[in-house]
Amino acid sequence: MTARLQIDGLSRHLGGRNVVDGIDLSVAAGQVTCLLGPSGCGKSTTLRIIAGVDRQDSGRVTLNGRVVADDQIHMPPEHRGVGLMFQDFALFPHLSVAANIGFGLPRDAASDARVTELLTRIDLVGYGAKHPHELSGGEQQRVALARALAPRPKVMLMDEPFSGLDNRLRDEIRDATLSVLKEEGTAVLLVTHEPDEAMRMADEIALMRDGRIVQRAAPYNIYNAPADRAAAAFFSDINTLTGRVNGALTQTPFGQFLAPGLPEGTEVDIVFRPQHVRLDFDRGGRGPNPTASEGTPARGTVERARFMGKESLVEFVMDDGTSRVTATVPAVFLPKAGTVMWLSIRRDRCFVFPHD
Ligand SMILES: Nc1ncnc2c1ncn2[C@@H]1O[C@H](COP(=O)(O)OP(=O)(O)O)[C@@H](O)[C@H]1O
Ligand SMILES: [Mg+2]
Repeated sequence: MTARLQIDGLSRHLGGRNVVDGIDLSVAAGQVTCLLGPSGCGKSTTLRIIAGVDRQDSGRVTLNGRVVADDQIHMPPEHRGVGLMFQDFALFPHLSVAANIGFGLPRDAASDARVTELLTRIDLVGYGAKHPHELSGGEQQRVALARALAPRPKVMLMDEPFSGLDNRLRDEIRDATLSVLKEEGTAVLLVTHEPDEAMRMADEIALMRDGRIVQRAAPYNIYNAPADRAAAAFFSDINTLTGRVNGALTQTPFGQFLAPGLPEGTEVDIVFRPQHVRLDFDRGGRGPNPTASEGTPARGTVERARFMGKESLVEFVMDDGTSRVTATVPAVFLPKAGTVMWLSIRRDRCFVFPHD
């Protein structure tokens, strides 16, 4: 698949540091890539350079096989053929919905047909003559999406487009937006700082930190094979046990873990998510038998249990007296403090990283 959008070695120096620091990225037609990272990591700057409203210090931007920005070239934004959508998507208040959508199009029959097509796509047939103030926030957002898509951009750049919306509406609007983008076959680069949004929308997540891409992978892979401890922690609470490499292994209350490729004596973090901890009751001082998939169980004592809505959070102090582990359990499960239980962790959901 050829990339609709490709960036190579993109860097931008601002305020005395590299805000964007050597980024490579590509997005194919019909694909949604989410640029995900904490506030201030350089996401918007990257998007602005791709759009052409900011200039890189080095690197190259290629759209539809054509270089639009490098050391020699700087194509103006209006010639780049990208659709833009930002958090503040202000519609023209004095124009009808149809006129807003058709704003960037020539005045002809083909444009009218395109507006009608888009009104159908965003499920607002019959709204064409209304004005923006007569629409809900979610409806306005869909009109803004239609307006951006009207000239059939090959690439859509979206910067936190849902963050201004009511929480209850957001998932619905995300899904509606995604289906319109897929129908149009647009290549989408969507910036967000919310992991849930990226997991929901993305074919591929590009995880960004301090101006760099830390990891690029499909949501399932980035969640289940994070590049480092911080990447794991970005998507959920995590548990961390510490250990030291001894004979390519590290010892924990849950038995030994492989620490491949790490030198003897290295301090390591064994990282796993609370939802990958299984709990069993103590039976006369004994726990479940070790299994290949869940390794050796370890005993702990409930310190606190809290009901969180769709799940419960149970915090343990392990028998070694120092390790603490949190487990999430579906539904209501609130054992009393002091209850002794056995914990098992899914071995294929544990990650061993050098201590950071
Ligand atoms: N014109 C500028 N001058 C100096 N620093 C800037 C400028 N623009 C952005 N920055 C800094 O660059 C960093 C990245 O900004 P931005 O790309 O907006 O991050 P994000 O969108 O990931 O929140 C921030 O620390 C911001 O303060
Ligand atoms: Mg931003």
